[in-house]
Amino acid sequence: MCGIVGAIAQREVTPILLEGLRRLEYRGYDSAGLAVLNRKAELERLRTTGKVAELAQALAATPVSGMIGIAHTRWATHGKPSESNAHPHVCENQAAVVHNGIIENFEALRSSQKAQGYTFTSDTDTEVIVHQVHRHLDKGDDLLGAVQNACKELEGAYALGVISIDEPGRLIAARRGSPLVIGVGIGEYFIASDVAALLPVTQRFVFLEEGDIADITANGVTIFDAYGNKVERKETLSELSADAVERGEYRHYMLKEIFEQPRAIADTLEGRLYQGRVLEVAFGAAAAEVFDKVQGVHIIACGTSFHAGLIARHWMESLAGIPCSVEVASEFRYRKPVVRNSSLIVTISQSGETADTLAGLKEAKRLGFGQSLTICNVPESSLTRESDLVLMTRAGPEIGVASTKAFTTQLVALMLLTIVLGRRFALNDEMESQLVKQLMHLPKEIEGVLGLDDKIQTLAERFADKHNALFLGRGAQYPVAMEGALKLKEISYIHAEAYPAGELKHGPLALVDASMPVVVVAPNNELLEKLKSNLQEVGARGGEMLVFADEDAGMSSDESTTVLPVAPTDDCVAPIVFTVPLQLLAYHVAVLKGTDVDQPRNLAKSVTVE
Ligand code: G6P
Repeated sequence: MCGIVGAIAQREVTPILLEGLRRLEYRGYDSAGLAVLNRKAELERLRTTGKVAELAQALAATPVSGMIGIAHTRWATHGKPSESNAHPHVCENQAAVVHNGIIENFEALRSSQKAQGYTFTSDTDTEVIVHQVHRHLDKGDDLLGAVQNACKELEGAYALGVISIDEPGRLIAARRGSPLVIGVGIGEYFIASDVAALLPVTQRFVFLEEGDIADITANGVTIFDAYGNKVERKETLSELSADAVERGEYRHYMLKEIFEQPRAIADTLEGRLYQGRVLEVAFGAAAAEVFDKVQGVHIIACGTSFHAGLIARHWMESLAGIPCSVEVASEFRYRKPVVRNSSLIVTISQSGETADTLAGLKEAKRLGFGQSLTICNVPESSLTRESDLVLMTRAGPEIGVASTKAFTTQLVALMLLTIVLGRRFALNDEMESQLVKQLMHLPKEIEGVLGLDDKIQTLAERFADKHNALFLGRGAQYPVAMEGALKLKEISYIHAEAYPAGELKHGPLALVDASMPVVVVAPNNELLEKLKSNLQEVGARGGEMLVFADEDAGMSSDESTTVLPVAPTDDCVAPIVFTVPLQLLAYHVAVLKGTDVDQPRNLAKSVTVE
């Protein structure tokens, strides 16, 4: 995770690096740093603990200046957040490196480097990279050769930016297992972990592929593959504008992203529906051929994306009659599952770079899954490149660490997948046109739920002093409850657990008392009466409940229960609709608690390490 920015230009690069870091801060924010080569070709470095704002303050006090530089915002893996562990790491004031990823053989490299007389100033795995580059420079390699040779000796994942005083007009970038993109300007070039970092300076991008090493000067970029062969990588024009990642009038990115959901859902549907049907070609030219062979679906994902998969399982099985299993990618990749090659492996990921999900996909291919599909929000990300079929969610950049609009658009995409696969199973034309109608109506329904914001803000006051909360749902609403509990714990640090309401009596009921609020999602479906009985069990134990209930559910507030009515919605899309009030609840509780909503402690948005 960590964010990398680099620049080589005919102008001062420090402001570009700083703005890039600010835009990459969602990837890690426990320390930050930058290094530039000044006019005398000397390395100047500045590092601080804490957020990028602190680095900016330090820079204001001690300016550094140069026309080539690299910068980094860190999410600690090896070594605690501290100035000495912050990047860039330098060796002999000759070379500097920023790194995202984990070097697995760092201990072996460290001992051999120590034996050669290298001294270490940090606890990071990264420092071995800069020493290794230095070793090769010492042997007479130029900077490109030194990085190429060093990379051959590294095991693990990395994206790197490297500069050296010996060649002040050269920036070397390398990628294996962690994302890195080159931004193309006029007579200037940039590197970054994500296009968002560079949007203020360019919209032209070249995406490096696995094993690529790029030699960047003000005159151009030459890219070599892992074997040292010169390769061409196509340039693409990003459709994103610089302000797509601005917070605008909203207090937090998370709130902005919650309110963007009607638009994001409409965008995800655009061009994919025609005359009441889902267009199969939206999944790629080969989609029909692939789908014809599918006899089952296996979904792998992490975090919020995993919850989307759990909801999709209900749809796949109950609406479409397709066998479907769902698993967290970090378990799947080591479990040695039994595989039918007629099963479609589906990955779900906002970033498309989550290490466990990527490794899960590779393992799935090795195990013999016939075909793969990814539902992803970031174009040109690793998962989109490694999958046979791709369905992009069009949520736009999601900056808040707690995922919101990415989740609801994933659900929309998964409903589209359920429909196209379901046609080959139990889903008839009439059901399809009903589902399509519900999907088209969704943006309006979500608008309606967003209108409950003020009421939810008031209800949030009851949570601010609580230490625990229980979330209940049944059927496809159980994963909705899981997602609600995850949102609350991620950003408010209140311990929250989700249970299928029917399971309450088998354990969690023992925890229920007045200090443990119970949040319930209650759409009007065939499980409603059973859910009501479960709630009676809570009420009888003095539990305080907050129920988001369908207006038609016949539920009203009483002494122990506060009911917040949600406009009636079709059961098929209810998981999407009922997610939104839980997002707002978590958001307002976090604001009341005064936590860092967009960058909660210990977390990062894009987890590119195992
Ligand atoms: C991190 C983020 C979560 C996200 C998960 C999976 O943990 O904080 O919000 O759900 O990674 O990320 P992905 O990009 O694969 O959806």
